[in-house]
Amino acid sequence: MAAGRAHTLNVLLWSALGIIIAIRLPLLPIRNETKRQLGYPPDSLLNVTELATRHGYQCEEHNVVTEDGFVLTVFRVSSGQRCSRTQIPVLLVHGLLQSADSWLDAGPGSGLAYLLADACHDVWLSNTRGNYYSRRHLTLDPDSDAAYWNFSADEIGYFDLPAILDYVLNRSRADILNYVGFSQGAGTFFIMCSERPNYCEKIKLMIALAPATRQTNTKSTMYRRLTQAVQGWETLLTTAGLHEIFSKGALSQEFVAFFCHFTKFTEGLCDAGLNKFNSVVAHPGSMSNETTRVLFGHFPAGTSLHNMAKYGQAMTNDKFVKFNYGHQKNLELYGTSEPPEYNISAVSPPVVVIYGENDGLVDTKDVEWAMERLPNVLEAVLIKDPAWNHMSVTYSSRVEEIIFPKINEYLQIYSST
Ligand SMILES: *[C@@H]1O[C@H](CO)[C@@H](O)[C@H](O)[C@H]1NC(C)=O
Ligand SMILES: *[C@@H]1O[C@H](CO)[C@@H](O)[C@H](O)[C@H]1NC(C)=O
Ligand SMILES: *[C@@H]1O[C@H](CO)[C@@H](O)[C@H](O)[C@H]1NC(C)=O
Ligand SMILES: *[C@@H]1O[C@H](CO)[C@@H](O)[C@H](O)[C@H]1NC(C)=O
Ligand SMILES: *[C@@H]1O[C@H](CO)[C@@H](O)[C@H](O)[C@H]1NC(C)=O
Repeated sequence: MAAGRAHTLNVLLWSALGIIIAIRLPLLPIRNETKRQLGYPPDSLLNVTELATRHGYQCEEHNVVTEDGFVLTVFRVSSGQRCSRTQIPVLLVHGLLQSADSWLDAGPGSGLAYLLADACHDVWLSNTRGNYYSRRHLTLDPDSDAAYWNFSADEIGYFDLPAILDYVLNRSRADILNYVGFSQGAGTFFIMCSERPNYCEKIKLMIALAPATRQTNTKSTMYRRLTQAVQGWETLLTTAGLHEIFSKGALSQEFVAFFCHFTKFTEGLCDAGLNKFNSVVAHPGSMSNETTRVLFGHFPAGTSLHNMAKYGQAMTNDKFVKFNYGHQKNLELYGTSEPPEYNISAVSPPVVVIYGENDGLVDTKDVEWAMERLPNVLEAVLIKDPAWNHMSVTYSSRVEEIIFPKINEYLQIYSST
């Protein structure tokens, strides 16, 4: 009984928190001018193009339109140095609630976008529907049309990735490319291969960084509770008109951006909180203090409640399946009362998997479960360093030392045209 009551209390608490963080206040977002005066780190206030050029790189901005009318921003980053363009493009796809900035927030020498550009790769960075760079649609208005937010990782894999692949291949005049996906960015790749296998054939090599599929063994209690609270309250919240969650400029992001740079003390709290959130056992030291301050200028970058709810569902399912709408609606939509499973065996390109023992969001057991189903795993690299947690993949100051050599080694082999 006591456990049951504690659980109810937890759900209520997380739900209340969810409602608060979803709301946009009229005073927000705080203007960049004001933030500069308040001493926010410059990089936290810049977009991808501004960041890249500030650090001496070149950057192009592209718009990609999906079959269902979403308009996505894609960046192309290259180093200022002279590189011979004989390499096929490499597309980097960020994780849940992130944006393309996440590949640059750790700064030159650490951010994977910079490191790959330094190694002369033709680097493309996508932005998933619903984040602040891709909060656009040909006919729907994200501010007033609920239909805009009616998506989860299912649609990201089905619509966003194929549109981005077509676009990048066309623009770079290549017929094949390499794909690096982090967490949701890897899980949605598997969804694409399962549902649209001919797109999978446009990939020469896939690098799966902490790929998120089923989440049966996710250890982070905070993440579990958060996604499950959203799942439990999805109907109520959407009825109340809330469809978007953790958007940039909303209270959640403005608060952490302020709090995490405010004083050394709050910065430390932030670092500890983030570390607890995404580790199995909290272990500081992977991220620099500067990166902690910078990343919250771009994170969380926003998604739909519906997508968060899907992650809530994934916590209790031992399969990697489509959104579960309940028996009746599943029957209507899928023709089966249970949501259909994604076919991970359809991921035909060679895959290099890199994952971490202390990752609290994507557990090694679930990664290994997915690997048993992947037909063509070239190599699985398990990072045992206790300081390496989920977010380390994008934000650690040790990316160059820990994962870059392996990524670059494979990309060099698979990049020649
Ligand atoms: C990034 O900032 C530059 C300079 O302020 C601006 O011209 C550009 O439109 C911005 N890009 C995006 C995608 O927001
Ligand atoms: C959302 O998508 C589902 C499944 O495609 C559909 O049944 C439902 O009517 C949609 N809801 C809205 C508000 O567009
Ligand atoms: C490739 O892009 C060009 C414009 O840059 C466009 O005219 C052409 O239709 C595109 N081709 C495909 C197959 O998308
Ligand atoms: C980060 O800040 C904390 C608290 O202010 C300090 O103890 C720690 O040494 C700093 N870490 C680095 C890598 O500078
Ligand atoms: C899954 O994909 C593989 C490879 O394309 C195929 O052989 C198999 O029949 C598919 N399984 C299902 C259940 O569709």
